[in-house]
Formats: sequence, C-alpha cells, structure tokens
Amino acid sequence: MKISVIGTGYVGLVTGSIFAHLGHDVICMDIDEEKVKKLKSGDPVIYEPGLEDLLKEGIEKDKLHFTTDIKEAVEKSDFIFICVGTPPKKSWETDLSYVKKVAEDIGKHINGYKIVVTKSTVPVGTGNMVKEIIRSYNKNNHPFDIVSNPEFLREGSAVEDTLHPDRIVVGSDNKEAAQKVADLYRGIDAPVLIVKLYSSELIKYASNSFLATKISFINSIADICERTGADVEEVAKGMGMDKRIGYHFLKAGLGYGGSCFPKDVDSILYTSMQLNEPFIILEATRKVNENRPVRFVERMEKMMGELRDKKIAIWGLAFKPNTDDMREAVSIKIIKLLKEKGSNVIAYDPVAMNNAKNVYLKDVDIEYVNSPMEAVKDVDALVLVTEWDEFKRIDMKEVIELMKGKFLFDGRNLYNPEEMEKIGFSYVSIGR
Ligand code: UDX
Repeated sequence: MKISVIGTGYVGLVTGSIFAHLGHDVICMDIDEEKVKKLKSGDPVIYEPGLEDLLKEGIEKDKLHFTTDIKEAVEKSDFIFICVGTPPKKSWETDLSYVKKVAEDIGKHINGYKIVVTKSTVPVGTGNMVKEIIRSYNKNNHPFDIVSNPEFLREGSAVEDTLHPDRIVVGSDNKEAAQKVADLYRGIDAPVLIVKLYSSELIKYASNSFLATKISFINSIADICERTGADVEEVAKGMGMDKRIGYHFLKAGLGYGGSCFPKDVDSILYTSMQLNEPFIILEATRKVNENRPVRFVERMEKMMGELRDKKIAIWGLAFKPNTDDMREAVSIKIIKLLKEKGSNVIAYDPVAMNNAKNVYLKDVDIEYVNSPMEAVKDVDALVLVTEWDEFKRIDMKEVIELMKGKFLFDGRNLYNPEEMEKIGFSYVSIGR
C-alpha cells in the first residue's frame, strides 16, 4: 500500500519505518529540511534502539522515502497518517495547530480517495474537526474517510512496542475504512479492536491517564511505607500478584515525566472541565506527581542539613532510561530545586547531556562530566534520578571511596538498601 506519514517525531518515524518493514511504500514528510536531509542519509536523528537498522533497511529496499513536500506526500499516497506534535498549551488545552495545518494541506492537495488517519494523540472530537477542515479546502469534493489509530509505543522501546503491541486500536465511523487501516498491520501479531472514532481517540487518553494514576497511587503508598516501615517494593509485588491489578506501572519513584503522561493528563483534565465533568481522581494524580521532586529534595535537606554550597552529583537526566528525551524530565525539577537552595550540581547521563546543556537546562549552572565516576569525585551526595542499566553495574564500593560525603539518594529504588548500608552509605530510597 502507498502510505504517507506526516511528521517524523518518535511516533511518525517509527510508524513509517515499520510500515516500510512490512512491505508498504512509505513517504515520510517533515517541514524540517535539516532533519529530512539527515533521515535520507540513514541518520535517525533521535536515539531509539533498533530504529537506525529499520531506517537503513527501508532506504536500501527503496520502500522508505523522505520529503519536505506535503503536496507530493498527499498526492502519492492512499493512506495519510497524521503524526505531528500535539503539545500542551499553558491552559492544559492541547495545541492542535499543527494538526489543523496538515488537515488544511491535505484538503488543498487531495487528488482522489484517501484514508486520513490521526495517529498523534488528539482530544476526543479531533477526527471530526480534521474532516471539516479537509472538506472546506477540498474544492473538487474528492472522497475521503477519517480514521483514528492511536499509538501506544513507549520511548526507548518504540520499535519493539510497535512490532509487538498489546493491541491495535482503529476507530472510524466507516468500518470499511477502519478495516483497511487494520489490514496495513498484517504481519504484526496482535489483536485488532475496531471501534467508533470517538472511542478510539479516548482510549489513548484513558490508557495513559490510568497508567499515570497507577504511578501516583503507588507513590502515595510509598509515602505511607516511609512513615510505617513497610517496604513499597514488597507491597507492589503483593498487589501485582492479583491479576486484576498486575505488576506493571507500580514502580514507586520520583514520579512520571516524558512527553506523554504529563500532557495527556492535563489534556483530559481540560476536556473534563470543558464538559463540566470534573475528573477528580486525575486531579489528585497530577498533584501527587507534581509534589514528588519537592518531597524528595525536602528529604535530602532533612538528612544533610542546609544544601547551600553542597556538592551534589546527579546520575541520569533523561526522563527515563534508553532515551535522550528530556521533556518533562524529573531531573529538571530536582536540579532547579537544588540550585535554588544554593547547591553545586555535577551531572552525568549516557545520552541526554547535550539535550540538557543546549535546551532543557540551558540557563542553569551545571558541571557536566563524561563518566559516572567523574561525577562523584569529592561530592557530598549522589542522587540517582534515572535508572540506566549502566548505574546498576557500577561497583558502589569504588563510588563511596571517591565521594567526600556518604549520602546516596536513590530516586528509583535501583539499589539494595542492605547492601548500600553495608558499604557505608547513608542510603535513602523511595518507600522503604
Ligand atoms: C507512555 C506510554 O507508556 C505509552 O503507551 C504512550 O504511547 C506514551 O506515553 P513513555 O512516555 O515513553 O510512554 O514512557 P513510560 O515507559 O510509559 O514511562 C513514563 C514515565 O513514568 C517515566 O517517567 C517513568 O519513569 C515513569 N514510571 C513508569 C514510573 O515512575 N513508574 C512506573 O511504574 C512506570
């Protein structure tokens, strides 16, 4: 099939590469000329395991093409996947301006029957908005259908998640069009759920906000564990053994970050406010998450006393392991809080340091170093923010030797408390 993917962010690029891998003819379109140039040469631009190989395979087999020309992308394809960003506005509303622009361009260049698929996470009702925009520009009344096909991939395992999803959700008011989109995934072994357009749009938000709620829930349990002497890891295990609850997303820590959970929670809260149906549970989910870094730094202060002029090493800046993405990363909040209190911060991350330096912590005075061991030299405390595998493998006896102080604040429960105490650390973790 001939497929165009508009927008080459995480979702678009992975989707396009996988469709090419499945044998379709794919054109990926992006307005960013630099990016398109790099993609054409096989450079995936973002760090995502497995993506570079898929990209090269698609290019070599002549199945994957890149362009900055939306007209070409629209005219040459039967399916058009909208994968552009849907960032949050300050008011928590979702900014749909990129989606609207793409819809306008599709309407201008449509030259025959097309199936237009929204893959970007969009608030319920957006599919119909896209339909109206295309219709208003579609001078020759070419036929088209609108389908919603949300993406559930996680960063850091995006390729794996797309090749082995738990489900493929396709929503449309035209079941035939939905089936055609579902057929594009032939070769991927996953149950397909075909639903109404609105349901499909909502499934994505309902899933992400439910997972975010699970995280805030276990983090609140962790707070009770800290007060009582229970161990949140044991509690989560005991909860997870109940099939109705499950083990996943019960990892207590510094809270959720990233490009999806925070913005999706805000977006559905906005929708619920607009509908005058307050989503009280989700308001609490958000509040609990906002407070995680604050609570953590307060604990540091309690243990270490004044943080002014203390030298503090940060291990991990990315919002989670296996990605260089720093959007809504907890590290940003922790570091800013520490800086407000007058601490000196030395940071190390295997892949996210450039993003930190150049974008997300651009104006913050941080010393960046090239190895975890370099980071801990003469520091008063070490804070583990992102649980990269690399940190798990380090000999912590060597670490304590290099440090001046003995404080180890483990924001992700990566280490074993007894072992760390035996080594000599004043060890603080979450909910145990
Ligand atoms: C998420 C959804 O999982 C995915 O389905 C959707 O398409 C996009 O949003 P992603 O943001 O890539 O994916 O990361 P995910 O692995 O879900 O983690 C999100 C955040 O939650 C991270 O900050 C992570 O550290 C945190 N988290 C996750 C926890 O604190 N505890 C957990 O148990 C799980």
